[in-house]
Amino acid sequence: MKKLLDLLTQEMGQAFEAAGYDAALGKVGLSNRPDLCEFQCNGAMAGAKQYHKAPIMIANEVAAKLSGSKVFEEVQAVAPGFLNLKIGKEFLKDILVTMESEPKFGLEAPEKPKKIVIDYGGANVAKPLHVGHLRSAVIGGSIKRINRYVGHEVIGDAHLGDWGLQMGLVLVGLKERYPDWVYFDESYTGEYPKEALFTISELEEIYPESSKRSKVDPEYKAKAMEATYKFQQGERGYWALGQMVREVSIKDLKRVYNALNTGFELWNGESTIKDLIPEMVQYMKDGGYAYISEGALVVDVKEETDTKEMPPCMILKSDGASLYNTTDLATIMDRVRNFDPDQIIYVTDKRQDLYFQQVFRCARKTKLVGPDVDLKWIGFGTVNGNDGKPFKTRDGGVMRLENLIKDTQDEMYRKIREGREMSEEEARKTAEQVALAALMYGDLSNQASKDYIFDLDRFTSFEGDTGPYILYTIVRIKSILTKYAEQGGNADAAKLQVAQSDAEKALAMQLSQFNAMMEGAATELAPQRICAFVYELANDFNRFYHETKILTEEDEVKKAGWIALLSLTKNVMEDSIKVLGFEAPDKM
Ligand code: ARG
Repeated sequence: MKKLLDLLTQEMGQAFEAAGYDAALGKVGLSNRPDLCEFQCNGAMAGAKQYHKAPIMIANEVAAKLSGSKVFEEVQAVAPGFLNLKIGKEFLKDILVTMESEPKFGLEAPEKPKKIVIDYGGANVAKPLHVGHLRSAVIGGSIKRINRYVGHEVIGDAHLGDWGLQMGLVLVGLKERYPDWVYFDESYTGEYPKEALFTISELEEIYPESSKRSKVDPEYKAKAMEATYKFQQGERGYWALGQMVREVSIKDLKRVYNALNTGFELWNGESTIKDLIPEMVQYMKDGGYAYISEGALVVDVKEETDTKEMPPCMILKSDGASLYNTTDLATIMDRVRNFDPDQIIYVTDKRQDLYFQQVFRCARKTKLVGPDVDLKWIGFGTVNGNDGKPFKTRDGGVMRLENLIKDTQDEMYRKIREGREMSEEEARKTAEQVALAALMYGDLSNQASKDYIFDLDRFTSFEGDTGPYILYTIVRIKSILTKYAEQGGNADAAKLQVAQSDAEKALAMQLSQFNAMMEGAATELAPQRICAFVYELANDFNRFYHETKILTEEDEVKKAGWIALLSLTKNVMEDSIKVLGFEAPDKM
């Protein structure tokens, strides 16, 4: 199905043409003055110069051509030359009927579906997920679902941090505790244990301990660097132990990501492409891209037009160790070989801005990717507390993501129990579901690059621009539909009617923009557009609901028309939140 604004523009273009003007002037947009009209066209103003005519004269002539139009029920030419428009109710109804009958409510499949790899999550082994990881998981997961919904093929990769000094610190920490493990015996040639010898809690204890010690004890730091090097070189014992660290970490990460309804197709890490590194280094040297500078191997990524300093991209340190850069670049090489993607999207903290500029430039310059591969980076802002500073626990520590989820669930449970008849078990289950919406919507309704304040009380409120409000609206519609069925009505057979009131028309108009909104959210990689749409839709529905007595309406045709409109509203809202990452319960 064509997009609403395109349909309106087509009609307007024909009127311009019929009046003797260029059809291209007939571009229709949303109204700047919703108090006066629903849509507007400024083409007469634009055409005035070209046709040496007063804009109001052009507007009048075009308006005359639209008398009797089914698309517009009102066309007003107003000084100095605007065309103020109202959409025809019958025409609007027909659009909704088409939406009902088409898959995805009239969203057209992309001409050429893309293959997209999305790199999000970015968790680090042996370290618990913290509040910062919330954003990557929620934004990345949603962008993945949006693009899938639209019709692209999307592969999500966790790209775990399991490569640099952080791995060395864990390995050397384990060695301190368990020097007798076969992993550390260079003469050992047998098989390594299959079962993990440590738990995630132990790893989470070892890492900070080891990191702290390395900062004050240079000898220890040297050992950690050596362990890093051995792991990176793939020395048998260190590599095997590193894999075990990965496994134990992934198992625990899955638990927390599951609670966020987030998963990955690939649980690859920075270390996954270890064997590609020598080949990539050779390729960069052979191609004349990489050169030695102060002992290190670097690629220049400066461009003439740069106004800021752009340091070279370091591929190998002077001791031969590879870096965060190196693994990201080799991962690009790997992704190109395995998936041949049209686009690679990264979702990370916005402080990695310069870093990704370097990596992308380096990948392009060295032709690791062809010119037709779109490299996109989405940098997200910080989650702050009510004091405007980075979110912390009450005693000033880093907030673990699982505790943040738990706190949100508890608060939601309290609110649900307050005034609602529900068994404890049902309330717990509902609270989990609504809490997820509170968290995700609280995050996604902000533009990704902006910092936001994590305000538990506001996020879990049933009123305002919040996840629970959206769910509450869906639950309200579900309950009306259930009651209609109890009255003996059949919602599936209900037929849409022409809108009777302004509120009903406003709801229909918002619905009719679904396909354009979803397409825009996908191309702009902007989940917040879906939030804005669904919030407006919920408001439109509630306005309509408050002034319409639906279930007590005696005219059955009218009642059925509203029921059909409610069903469509519910279905559109449900698809919208599903791509955001959450779903509505039946009751709340
Ligand atoms: N592990 C990294 C960190 O904690 C984030 C990884 C982001 N993704 C990437 N391809 N570099 O900062």
